[in-house]
Amino acid sequence: MNKQFDVLVIGAGPGGYIAAIRAAQLGFSVGCCEFSAYDDPAGEPRLGGTCLNAGCIPLKALVASSELFEKVSHNLEDHGITTSGVGIDIAKMQLRKEAIVTKMTAGVKFLFRKNKITLLHGRGSFAGRTDAGYRVIISGKEGEEEVLAQKVIIATGSKARHIPNIAVDNVTICDNEGALKFTEPPKKLGVIGAGVIGLEVGSVWRRLGAEVTVLEVMPSFLVAADESISREASKLFLKQGLHIKLGVRIGQAKLTKHGVSIAYTDDQGFEHTLECDKLIVSVGRIPNTEKLNLEAIGLQADERGFIPVNDHCATTAPGVYAIGDVVRGPMLAHKAEDEGVMVAELIAGQKPHIDYNSMPWVIYTTPEIAWVGKTEQQLRAEGGDYKVGQFPFAANGRALGLGDAEGFIKMLADGKTDEILGVHIIGADASDLIAEAALAMEFRASSEDVARTCHPHPSLSEVMREAALAIEKRALNM
Ligand code: FAD
Ligand code: NAI
Repeated sequence: MNKQFDVLVIGAGPGGYIAAIRAAQLGFSVGCCEFSAYDDPAGEPRLGGTCLNAGCIPLKALVASSELFEKVSHNLEDHGITTSGVGIDIAKMQLRKEAIVTKMTAGVKFLFRKNKITLLHGRGSFAGRTDAGYRVIISGKEGEEEVLAQKVIIATGSKARHIPNIAVDNVTICDNEGALKFTEPPKKLGVIGAGVIGLEVGSVWRRLGAEVTVLEVMPSFLVAADESISREASKLFLKQGLHIKLGVRIGQAKLTKHGVSIAYTDDQGFEHTLECDKLIVSVGRIPNTEKLNLEAIGLQADERGFIPVNDHCATTAPGVYAIGDVVRGPMLAHKAEDEGVMVAELIAGQKPHIDYNSMPWVIYTTPEIAWVGKTEQQLRAEGGDYKVGQFPFAANGRALGLGDAEGFIKMLADGKTDEILGVHIIGADASDLIAEAALAMEFRASSEDVARTCHPHPSLSEVMREAALAIEKRALNM
């Protein structure tokens, strides 16, 4: 007899595994299939999807190692600390990263066992619907099995978009998979796309000694960020030696004896060739929908491959939901997770809701960049009445003590009601500082609420309070 589940989740990335856990907590019988994009050495699928295997977690391990290396190599003199013979063993750095991935992915398997979630090894695809539920075929190494589920949550994620004529081999020309596995820092690294991956991964290898050139098709970069943050980032990245060439058109990339040569046209129309040891292609990601056989249940992906859903991630097939990178909205792990929780709770008859406007973004460069809510250019375009408060880390004692005093926090609030509309940070620990702003916005706090909240001294969080005070031009330390 076929296995039957109340809820079947397809894909065990941060969207899928969190949805499965929440559904199990709510008392449903849950199955989750994972097709083994990332195997462990024993051939078992590693759970956790892109995030745990080839995205957030391994990349942030490399960010941490490379930041530490840069700090110890160049930034300790001010503290009176002298160092000599500082080196880095890249193989060991990569082993540390792998150990973190192994620990985290094994942790998801443990959570599946703890919550009695049935893990099905194989690729899920729809076969149709009967009175008993949705028929889903799981195709694995050991063959095929058909399961039945009352509700299905599609959480199949995304993969790197490639450029025609630039063949990714993940050795010399790499997407996110190969770019996190270099065994030594390339002398010269080319990056196509000054987006989130280009900036984060490019910065990792720059800190470790590579000369990095980023080629970006648009005339500006970080367009989703507040304009003053992008300007500040551009200034700081240039100072760090990250070369970003804007408005380029990429031509052919050819493998050479020593690496790869990329032809491109600059923003003035002049032709150039960039010779480098390695090339990273980071020009966005595309949803994984093509092998789901959505037609069998009357669904169709849109022209960009996303599964159309409503505000609650419901598709037009009753009881079938889609979450995470495979649907509209930002491709972020915490967005996938929140949608997973929301859908499981909806299935249980609860009334959850996600406020996408209070969903934070973080870019793990040095310094970090983070924001939540609207940018100043959005508010200006909307023509609304708004106020701005900004405060620099350079006027904060804790930031100076840490030797991390670059950047600022900018708060935007409604001109009449004072409700916080957006918070934008470029500076140390922006990834943690932004959580206060996200919470404030979730509670629809005013800038005065933050300004009147006692913040610990000395701490970087005081910059948030000063930015709130600056809205009414009453910052105290400036
Ligand atoms: P995924 O994580 O892609 O998981 C989908 C899973 O489904 C995969 O395991 C896949 O094997 C499986 N699957 C696909 N098709 C099938 C099928 N038919 N049957 C069974 N299984 C299937 N986001 C952040 O918020 N913060 C970060 O710092 C961050 N860093 C990133 C760094 C990099 C280099 C990259 C590439 C991404 C990063 N992201 C980050 C984005 C984040 O990884 C994704 O938004 C997140 O993983 C999406 O989760 P998901 O569950 O929707 O999909
Ligand atoms: P991206 O969308 O962030 O950036 C892609 C960049 O490539 C854009 O600037 C785009 O203009 C440029 N581009 C596109 N085609 C090009 C071409 N032909 N030539 C030159 N430039 C071109 O995509 P990226 O960096 O690949 O990351 C994918 C997604 O992964 C992100 O959007 C984000 O959602 C997620 N991610 C999140 C992180 C985080 O939250 N910290 C870290 C890394 C990835």
